[in-house]
Amino acid sequence: MQAGKKRIMSGMRPTGKLHIGHYMGVLTNWVKLQDEYHCYFAVADWHALTTKYDRTEGLRQNITDAVMDWIASGIDPERSIIYVQSLIPETAELHLLLSMITPQNWVERDPTLKDMIKILRGNKAEETDDASGIVSYGLMGYPVLQTADIIQFNASLVPVGKDQLAHIEISRDITRRFNHIYKTDFFVEPQPKLTEIPLLKGIDGQKMGKSFNNDIKISDSEQDTAKKIMRAITDRSRIKKTDPGHPDLCEVVCPYYEIFADGTTIKKQRYECENAIRGCADCKRELAEIINSRFRTIRQKRKELENNPDYLYQVIKAGSEKARESAYANLRQVKNIMQMY
Ligand code: TRP
Ligand code: SF4
Repeated sequence: MQAGKKRIMSGMRPTGKLHIGHYMGVLTNWVKLQDEYHCYFAVADWHALTTKYDRTEGLRQNITDAVMDWIASGIDPERSIIYVQSLIPETAELHLLLSMITPQNWVERDPTLKDMIKILRGNKAEETDDASGIVSYGLMGYPVLQTADIIQFNASLVPVGKDQLAHIEISRDITRRFNHIYKTDFFVEPQPKLTEIPLLKGIDGQKMGKSFNNDIKISDSEQDTAKKIMRAITDRSRIKKTDPGHPDLCEVVCPYYEIFADGTTIKKQRYECENAIRGCADCKRELAEIINSRFRTIRQKRKELENNPDYLYQVIKAGSEKARESAYANLRQVKNIMQMY
């Protein structure tokens, strides 16, 4: 580790193969941060269990899928620490200690957690008529566990999206409370670093998400990418190619151009649409090629990783060992401050 660099910690729950919305929103940002900071990136499998404890079939695969997508996208295991949360038992111990000093009503008030619970209850109620047991004790500890993730490395910055701000606020409160109770300034109060996420809709115009079957994966083939884009919604008022189109009413294809194409291409696309020079099919074919060329190297790299599970295993193992060393040293000091053995 280079001295003097600030530490960053962030994580993601392993939910399966990542889509290009994750890439544009989170991963490109993480990749940039690596130049300036010392980064810890966790695959938060315990956090995944807080809501999916009864569906662990794909969990291990989801973890490797996440790591492959990260590395293919440019997270560099030589510079950043990539690790799997559950490979660091020290985090669980810190979580336990923090849970002693965290007032119950702090977690009960967490609006992000409340939303998760609402969704979870809603889904469960669709399956059975008894949704009462769905919220586990572990789920209530979600923000406390996340706090342990962050402060075990004394990370000062946490790059996250808006939805995570409520959790980080609790992390800051817990940090202050620890320092206050034990009369120390040991823990650094972590600051959120808001990621400006260009909102990438799914091909149907709804929020992009795996469960909606409207996403384009980082790991999709070029053919699948093209097929999905051909299905994307366009200016609904445009029926024939001879009808002039309205790029601003074209809810998916046009915004994708704005995000992935260069200025000249965007101008041309808008002009030809408005003047009925290009049809939507041609427009989509060009877009598919733009997106495919953007992800070509990333996809090649991902294929190589898929074919080299030993390397991937080594990366996860080495990263987790390094993370564990810092976490262990940190925990020793915490226990010392708390006058434990
Ligand atoms: N809760 C985060 C999410 O769902 C994932 C996460 C786990 C995390 N531990 C973290 C994010 C620590 C930032 C810091 O996206
Ligand atoms: Fe949208 Fe392109 Fe069709 Fe215009 S030509 S409506 S921008 S898909």
